[in-house]
Amino acid sequence: MDKMKLGAKPPQLVLPVVVMGANVEGKPNYCTVAWVTIIDDDPPAIGLVLGKGRRTMDGARENGTFSVNVPGTASAAAVDHCGLVSGHKQDKSEAFTAFYGVLGTAPMAKECPMNAECRLRNIVEFEGTNLVVGDVVELYVDRDCLVDGKPDARKIDPLLYVMLGGPYLSMGDKVADAFKVGKDFQGKRPAGQCGHR
Ligand SMILES: Cc1cc2nc3c(=O)[nH]c(=O)nc-3n(C[C@H](O)[C@H](O)[C@H](O)COP(=O)(O)O)c2cc1C
Repeated sequence: MDKMKLGAKPPQLVLPVVVMGANVEGKPNYCTVAWVTIIDDDPPAIGLVLGKGRRTMDGARENGTFSVNVPGTASAAAVDHCGLVSGHKQDKSEAFTAFYGVLGTAPMAKECPMNAECRLRNIVEFEGTNLVVGDVVELYVDRDCLVDGKPDARKIDPLLYVMLGGPYLSMGDKVADAFKVGKDFQGKRPAGQCGHR
């Protein structure tokens, strides 16, 4: 394995892309976000890294609520649109069909198979970005994307994004069972990866 130095850059991660939703002055606005992470699963909290000045963030501050919507690959064009155009310049309220849950003010995108309704907990300020943390108060999933009462990733068919600049991808094949395959690990180091396929 011959390692090349590429400089001080983030690694090229492949990330599921989400759509953040918030009401801004009474109208839904949506923003595409790839820098998203679960902060905790119980109680559930989610974090989004947002550039300063996002219109959707104005709405999250205004209401103290927002949503995190998981789009399927069929929504690629709408997702990309919400990432290309700011609500500061253009109305994006029609990009998805909004529905509301228990909080009443966090617009969720009906066309996205999974929607987390969030109460804004806090905002951690960095130099160029903010980490926006929300407590998930309810999770909504399309009935036909459930298997045995649980969300099924194959049915949801999440839209993946290759940092930085794309393309969008869909999920690949199953490799192994998480939290199981490592039990058989005998200390034999894996082979190098590139050229593996
Ligand atoms: C694939 C993709 C991923 C993006 N990921 C992020 C992200 O993680 N954080 C962010 O602040 N902006 C991200 N953006 C850019 C915002 O979606 C974009 O600036 C958007 O216009 C902001 O909308 P708003 O001002 O209406 O909130 C992404 C855009 C695309 C196309």
